[in-house]
Amino acid sequence: MSFNLLKGKKGIIFGALDANSIAWKTAETIHAEGGTFVLTNAPIAMRMGQIDELAKKTGSEIVPADATSEEDLDNLVSKSMEILGGKIDFVLHAIGMSVNVRKGRAYVDEKYDFTTKGWDVSALSFHKVMQSLYKADAMNEWGSIVALTYMAAQRTFPDYNDMADNKAYLESVARSFGYFFGKEKKVRVNTISQSPTPTTAGQGVKGFDNFISYADKMSPLGNATAQDCADYTVTLFSDFTRKVTMQNLFHDGGFSNTGVSQEIIDRFSE
Ligand SMILES: NC(=O)c1ccc[n+]([C@@H]2O[C@H](COP(=O)([O-])OP(=O)(O)OC[C@H]3O[C@@H](n4cnc5c(N)ncnc54)[C@H](O)[C@@H]3O)[C@@H](O)[C@H]2O)c1
Repeated sequence: MSFNLLKGKKGIIFGALDANSIAWKTAETIHAEGGTFVLTNAPIAMRMGQIDELAKKTGSEIVPADATSEEDLDNLVSKSMEILGGKIDFVLHAIGMSVNVRKGRAYVDEKYDFTTKGWDVSALSFHKVMQSLYKADAMNEWGSIVALTYMAAQRTFPDYNDMADNKAYLESVARSFGYFFGKEKKVRVNTISQSPTPTTAGQGVKGFDNFISYADKMSPLGNATAQDCADYTVTLFSDFTRKVTMQNLFHDGGFSNTGVSQEIIDRFSE
């Protein structure tokens, strides 16, 4: 299915590590919808990942950037404009990593160096990306910027650890920067709050497999997949959502507004 929704639009996609990544599926879908883009990831992820394969498939160039480095981001923005031949219409921030989670530190036993690093990568990087785009006047009018988040920003999920705080910060940055980007440049900024999804970052969360089936049974429409997320992101990059900005948009099959589902009640009747 392709509608050419992004014909002529140019962008930057952060966070495609492997074929499971939400950013990977989004890149393929944007390509199918006629958009062109630069792919970027942290230099270390380039060695671990398979981004070359995605670049070949979508006819894209890769510009490495650590999303915590202002220098890397400024370089990425100027190189992208060179490669794409002008200003940018869409940006996807699909970056997340908690060192506390990786090292098995519980929320009540955080190592604050780890906390700071995870916050810089997962949350402050979104501000850094936008500040770099803003200062370079790199976005076209009616452009669209999206970051991915999770509902642990609003409600507690014990094993989501310090990522919950990072996502709350990320969502706040979308609102605050969205104001200035909207006023000055007519650019919209939103976050998509996605269902749990089996990716490298997702599977880092303890008990993820059980949690994903719980979420699926709680959601009237079932969990949103990575492909569903890619499709939704395309609509937010298209011209059909020009006045949607500064929003946190739940994309979770109805999970966020469900108190309990019949399937979960049935489990407790067994
Ligand atoms: N998987 C889920 O359950 C889920 C649910 C809701 C939201 N999200 C969010 O979706 C986004 C994408 O994650 P994913 O699930 O596709 O996992 P993923 O592991 O495929 O992607 C995470 C990406 O972040 C990149 N990254 C890490 N440090 C970086 C740095 N310093 N600079 C640049 N890039 C860096 C990684 O290289 C990787 O490509 C994340 O923000 C994640 O929190 C995921």
